[in-house]
Amino acid sequence: MSIRRVLFAVGMAGCLTVSGVSLSAADPTIEQTARYILDVVRAFRAAYVLHVVEHTRGSGLEPKEEWQKDPHFLPLPAQFVKSATEQVDSVEIGLISLTPINPENRPKTQAETDALIQLEKDRARGFISFSDGSYFKGVSADLAMVRSCIECHNHHPKTARSNFKQWDVMGGLVVRIKRGAELETQPFPPDPTKRPPGPMDWPVPQQQPVAPPWVR
Ligand code: HEC
Repeated sequence: MSIRRVLFAVGMAGCLTVSGVSLSAADPTIEQTARYILDVVRAFRAAYVLHVVEHTRGSGLEPKEEWQKDPHFLPLPAQFVKSATEQVDSVEIGLISLTPINPENRPKTQAETDALIQLEKDRARGFISFSDGSYFKGVSADLAMVRSCIECHNHHPKTARSNFKQWDVMGGLVVRIKRGAELETQPFPPDPTKRPPGPMDWPVPQQQPVAPPWVR
């Protein structure tokens, strides 16, 4: 083998290794995964608060705990998050607080309590992740982003804290990722019922192969 060929082969192997390394380096860490999940949940929650709850304010629609009773009631932001995240089986997502209206929303472990305390002490931090038994967890601060958060929480008959101010950390969104858990495949819904053939069902006309420009 000529020297040039050897150099070429070594160069190619180097490229593959480098691209192999960069590929595995691009795999998100479990911490990044927790952050991505919470970012998405937070974004949907914020969009619901700003574009549905705030947008419809004064129109006769209002967020109410017993929203199922009347079509003019909207789910509370916390209920919206809960009902969406209950549909997720691969990880557990929740809304927790040190002073919850609903005692079910207390942190589940000491590590979760400590994370909430840290997030309250250091607002700029925004996100904390940690190992907790057989779980890896991420907690991101849940801020009182609009006045209605604090108005409702401060005056709720079951409130455990009535001095919330706008932009306070009111609690946290938590994601609990079980280590080594097999991801379950969702059952696939049944096929739709048969329908008459539509434009998509007609046979596609065969295209004549087009020769590339360099073939004469
Ligand atoms: C109209 C009342 C109302 C509004 C508005 C409201 N909440 Fe709540 N929030 C509740 C109630 C009631 C619960 C308990 C729901 C449950 O889990 O049963 C709750 C739950 C929570 C929790 C979980 C801990 C707890 O208190 O049980 C957090 C954190 C929270 N809300 C933050 C917010 C934020 C941030 C906003 C504004 C974006 C907001 N809430 C708007 C009434 C309200």
